[in-house]
Amino acid sequence: MPTLFRKVKDVRNYIRNLRHSAENNYSVGLVPTMGYLHEGHMELVRKSKLQNDITVVSIYVNPLQFGKGEDYERYPRDLERDLAMCEEAGVDIVFAPTDEEIYPQKPKVEINVEGISNVLEGAFRTGHFSGVALIVLKLFNIVQPDRAYFGEKDFQQLKLIERLVRDLSYPVEIVPVPTVRDKDGLALSSRNTYLKENERESALSIYRSFLIAQKLFKVGNTKAEDLKEAIKDYISRHPHVKKIDYVEIVDEEFNIKSDEVSEGDRILVAVWIGDTRLIDNWRLSYEEV
Ligand code: PAJ
Repeated sequence: MPTLFRKVKDVRNYIRNLRHSAENNYSVGLVPTMGYLHEGHMELVRKSKLQNDITVVSIYVNPLQFGKGEDYERYPRDLERDLAMCEEAGVDIVFAPTDEEIYPQKPKVEINVEGISNVLEGAFRTGHFSGVALIVLKLFNIVQPDRAYFGEKDFQQLKLIERLVRDLSYPVEIVPVPTVRDKDGLALSSRNTYLKENERESALSIYRSFLIAQKLFKVGNTKAEDLKEAIKDYISRHPHVKKIDYVEIVDEEFNIKSDEVSEGDRILVAVWIGDTRLIDNWRLSYEEV
């Protein structure tokens, strides 16, 4: 069983002692999560286990990154199940703090990254990325990992963290992990549990629209507008698709592309399927899918 900690002081001391008692300096990998773990999370864990002596998984549904009227209350939670999955994967430490531990006072610090925090996801979810930045930096300060693992599934979040670490000279290596999908292409997400059976079928249109855009790109259509339109057209033809918040294409520095796209650019999508908001993204390439 992984060692479970609920208090900042306890996990900090435990990791500090481990490091000091080891002959060679232990390397520590951190996998930050909001729990209700699935194979996407476990892929991050596997990567961390390969690269570090100790793997820490944090499980905390961070209220600060949810906006008013969002799904904070109904976000799925099941610590017992998460612990069992962590045990099976050989996780060493689970840190599952309470709200009082993380936010004894309402934070007065706000961290934003220009050009990332307030666009796309950030434009639709005001304050979301300052909440993410704060909790991730707090977790870094508590655990002091050598490496931290983030999924490409949340591509804008990954870019935000990479930029924070670069700009603050933070001593942690950010390791990106490719998106894990179900056999039918749906990106794994804790929020998929909200989908009813027939809604799930419509949600597949997101992945399939990427394949359409990818095909267009491969045969030589490099116009951002054409690819975006093809995606919107395809997705919106499906039942239960309530609203498409955005379809955009960004380059590796997160600049929005309005003209010609090239290999390595990412298509980013946010779609409402019924009452469930899903995000996904796709890297354009000339390779076979
Ligand atoms: P959560 O949604 O639980 O995701 C935790 C980590 O797992 C993130 O880095 C996310 O990108 C990754 N992940 C989720 N689904 C994935 C998939 N299908 N394939 C690969 N990786 C996947 O993201 C958060 O929590 C929070 O914002 C957090 C960073 C923990 C801060 O609160």
